[in-house]
Amino acid sequence: MLSNIELMQTVKSLKDIDIKDKRVLIRVDFNVPLDSHNNITDDNRIKEALHTINHCIDNEAKNIVLVTHLGKPKNGYEEKFSLKHIVKRLERLLDRKVDLIDNFMEQKDTLNSGTNAKIFLLENIRFFEGETKNDNNLSKELASLCDVFVNDAFGTSHRAHSSTVGITKYVDRKVAGFLLKREIDAFAKALFKPTQPICLVVGGAKVSSKITLLNNILPKIDKLIIGGAMSNTFLKAIGYDTKASLVEDEFLDEANMILKTARESKVNVYLPVDVVITDNIDHPIDIKIVPSQDMLDGFKAVDIGPATVKLFEEAIGLSNTIIWNGPMGIFEIDRFSKGTFRIAHAIADTYAYSIVGGGDTASAAEKADEKENISFISTGGGASLELLEGKLLPGFENLEKI
Ligand code: 3PG
Repeated sequence: MLSNIELMQTVKSLKDIDIKDKRVLIRVDFNVPLDSHNNITDDNRIKEALHTINHCIDNEAKNIVLVTHLGKPKNGYEEKFSLKHIVKRLERLLDRKVDLIDNFMEQKDTLNSGTNAKIFLLENIRFFEGETKNDNNLSKELASLCDVFVNDAFGTSHRAHSSTVGITKYVDRKVAGFLLKREIDAFAKALFKPTQPICLVVGGAKVSSKITLLNNILPKIDKLIIGGAMSNTFLKAIGYDTKASLVEDEFLDEANMILKTARESKVNVYLPVDVVITDNIDHPIDIKIVPSQDMLDGFKAVDIGPATVKLFEEAIGLSNTIIWNGPMGIFEIDRFSKGTFRIAHAIADTYAYSIVGGGDTASAAEKADEKENISFISTGGGASLELLEGKLLPGFENLEKI
């Protein structure tokens, strides 16, 4: 029986079908970060979708309708989530005019009149209440705009929404875009017949958000490196006094179970041997490096220390496949970013096949200037986490299979 990842690899791709003179609707994920002036601070997700859009232009689709969400609008239109902040960058990257369609339901004539690979961008699909409810009417309305549906929104493929899943019920031709294919193939390479030793590096704030992932991946790996605030829960579980550090007390038993399973599966586990601690995260007066056993009263661990970096670097250096999900400390604050960046450099310096989860971990790799030196950086945070948890992502489920 095929595993979920293998099943997702069987989806047909855009290159398997003829799109000449067809109306193509592409679900992209342009949910990019914006600063307080609504400037895009990272346009990687837009760049990663260009391959698919350009293929449709080059192969003479009749028109191309792009659909995305941006942020989490609560109640219809909100200026800060409008795609008017995105459209200019998209035009610049495509070197082509893109028409922003404010309300596609009222502008169907315009949309259907497009010829010669004309490109339309629908306004934020989450301005429609039905989107996140996977509403049938909205799905049908979207389907009426196209002959071919292409899902290229890997970052949103864990959501069963109208524009990712509902629409597939009403369109005959439905395939994966090149980004969706690249993502699934990259994860499959790390998880199926990977070159050993395989090392999983996990971090981030909460053990609770990584339990399913750990239980799914532990039987497949050789080394488990744990950093970030979630390592405090593991340190406390093995008896250390973590003082004022962030700990999920209700998950201490779970942490011990994971360590037990790792021992039984002969997985080597690496926990921080020293940590950077501070009296105050936002306005630190005192910052110290201490052994993990010697945390101080009132202090919180905010990064891994230099001895831990050395230990983790050595374990990473001996691996041939590396999966990284979650930062080693509060890397958004410069003074607490050293551990995360050193781990990004260590992964980048290996000859291993390295794959980095999206979201925080992707932005840490980028900030460390190692984007080019890592084998694959996912564009999906939640989606890559669910892939690593072994789930079948709904965005792949109804696409045509090879
Ligand atoms: C993401 O940024 O992870 C995706 O675009 C999905 O966004 P969501 O969490 O708002 O569904």
